[in-house]
Amino acid sequence: MTTSVHILGFSGSLRQKSLNTGLLHAASELLPAKTTLEIVHLGEIPLYDQDLLDAQGFPAAVEHFRQRILAADALLIATPEYNYSITGVLKNAIDWASRPGPDKKLPLDDKPLGIMGASPGLYGTARAQYHLRQIAVFTNMHPINKPEVMVPQAMQKFSDGRLTDEQSREFVRQHVAELVQWTLRLRGTADRQIGG
Ligand SMILES: Cc1cc2nc3c(=O)[nH]c(=O)nc-3n(C[C@H](O)[C@H](O)[C@H](O)COP(=O)(O)O)c2cc1C
Repeated sequence: MTTSVHILGFSGSLRQKSLNTGLLHAASELLPAKTTLEIVHLGEIPLYDQDLLDAQGFPAAVEHFRQRILAADALLIATPEYNYSITGVLKNAIDWASRPGPDKKLPLDDKPLGIMGASPGLYGTARAQYHLRQIAVFTNMHPINKPEVMVPQAMQKFSDGRLTDEQSREFVRQHVAELVQWTLRLRGTADRQIGG
């Protein structure tokens, strides 16, 4: 049995200097052994339109996103907080990915999930993260609970787009390590069930 874990990361912000995309880059510097992190940008994904889906199937950018999710062992989402929730960009991408394709596959279903967030304010995206956890219920993603990565007052913790605050980096490192362990644990349970 392979013990390598491939994580797909995406950020709910399209901003070039996004704090949350910066968290993903920090994660890519802090990966455990035998772990890879691929980061996808959500900027090409159009607004969800059922008519478009019915007439033409998934747009190319959506199909690419779906396939990257299907190929991943786990997901790592860095969510900004907009008006106490996740961003429209992130919700829109999740809405697309939650739909079954002609292949009948539900890309988000059964995926282990890590959640991180950074904000300039005092709560470090806590409210957005709990909304994302609610979304994970219906889409049947499996978020890890601890350690939470909520980086408040983040302007002081990044320098030139790089997360420099040592305590925050340690939370990110622990979070990704736990996500890998969680992914292996879920994989092990499935293996046992398949083996009877
Ligand atoms: C429309 C909008 C709503 C926002 N609402 C919140 C909020 O509810 N709570 C908060 O802490 N910050 C809020 N912010 C500030 C964002 O946290 C801040 O812009 C952050 O840098 C966004 O993440 P990013 O750096 O990854 O783009 C809001 C920003 C925008 C543009």
